[in-house]
Amino acid sequence: MIQHKHTSRSKAVSSLLKWYANHARDLPWRNTSDPYRILVSEVMLQQTQVSRVLIKYGQFLHGFPTLRALSRAGQREVVVAWKGMGYNNRAVRLHKLARAIIERHGGRFPRDYQSLVALPGVGRYTANALLSSAFKFDVPTVDVNVRRFLSRAFWKMSSTLELRSDQDIWRLTEELLPRGMSYQWNQALMDIGATICTLQRPRCEICPAASFCKSKQSMKETNATKAKREASFDGIPNRIYRGRIIEELRKRNGVGSISIRNLGRRVHPNFSSRHSKWLESLLNSLQRDGLILIQGNGSPTRQRVRLA
Ligand code: ADE
Repeated sequence: MIQHKHTSRSKAVSSLLKWYANHARDLPWRNTSDPYRILVSEVMLQQTQVSRVLIKYGQFLHGFPTLRALSRAGQREVVVAWKGMGYNNRAVRLHKLARAIIERHGGRFPRDYQSLVALPGVGRYTANALLSSAFKFDVPTVDVNVRRFLSRAFWKMSSTLELRSDQDIWRLTEELLPRGMSYQWNQALMDIGATICTLQRPRCEICPAASFCKSKQSMKETNATKAKREASFDGIPNRIYRGRIIEELRKRNGVGSISIRNLGRRVHPNFSSRHSKWLESLLNSLQRDGLILIQGNGSPTRQRVRLA
C-alpha cells in the first residue's frame, strides 16, 4: 500500500514536470537567478496578478536596477515608482528590506532560511521563494494558488472553497519535492494553481493533473463560490480608497502636502463631514503602515497629509 502510494506520487510528480517543460509561462523573473530581481518579483506578485506585474516589473527595475540602488533611494521615490501596483505598503516594506540587507549583510543576500526570515517583511513564503528561485535549494514554495491546487489534487475536496490545512500541505510538499528539480516543480505548481486550478472555475479539461486529481468530480459539481467580503464604504472597498489617497499624494510628486478636507473631496465624490471619521481611520492605517505622514494639529480636517 505504502509502496503503491509512492509510485503513484512519483508518477504524478513526473507528469507535472513534463507538463511544465512544455507549458511554462515565459516570465522575466524566470530568466534570472539574481536574488534582487527575484525578490522584486515576489513582492509584486504577492497581491497582484502576473499580467499587471509584467507591466511594472521592467520599469521598476529600470529605476532601481540593484539592491544598492533601491536602498539609496528615498522612500517617497520608491512609493512614487510603485504607481499602478496597488497595496502601496509593499513599496515601503521592499525598501526597508533592501536597506536591512545592505546594513546586516553588506548587500549580499543570505542563503540560509534563518537569516532570511530574520529580515523585516520576510516570511516563510518569501524566504523559500528566494532559496528556491535564486539559489536553487530543494525547498517548497506554497502560496495560496499552490495550496488550492494541492488540496484538490491530493485530497477529495467537497467544494471549490475547501482547502487542506497549512500543515498538511507543507508536509505533502516536503514529501513530493523532486530533489534537483524543485525549482521547476515549484513553478509548475504556481502555473497550474494560477491559470488552471482557479478558485472559481477550475479548467479540469486541460489540467495535467486530471488523471490523478481526487477532486475533479466534485469541482464539476460545485461552482460559483462566493467572494470574500472586503471592508468597504459606500460600496467601494477601502483598498481602492487607500490607493486613491496615495495616488493624490503621488500627483504632488510625493513632495507636496494636502489638507485632509481637500483630500477627502478628491477621493470621494460627495465628501462631507459625515465621512470624516471614516477618512481619519483610513489615514491612520496608512500612517501606521509608514506610507504617509499626518501633519499639524487642531481639528482633523485642518491637518495636512503627505507621503512619508
Ligand atoms: N507568484 C509568486 N511567485 C511566482 C512566480 N515565480 N511565477 C509566477 N507566479 C508567481
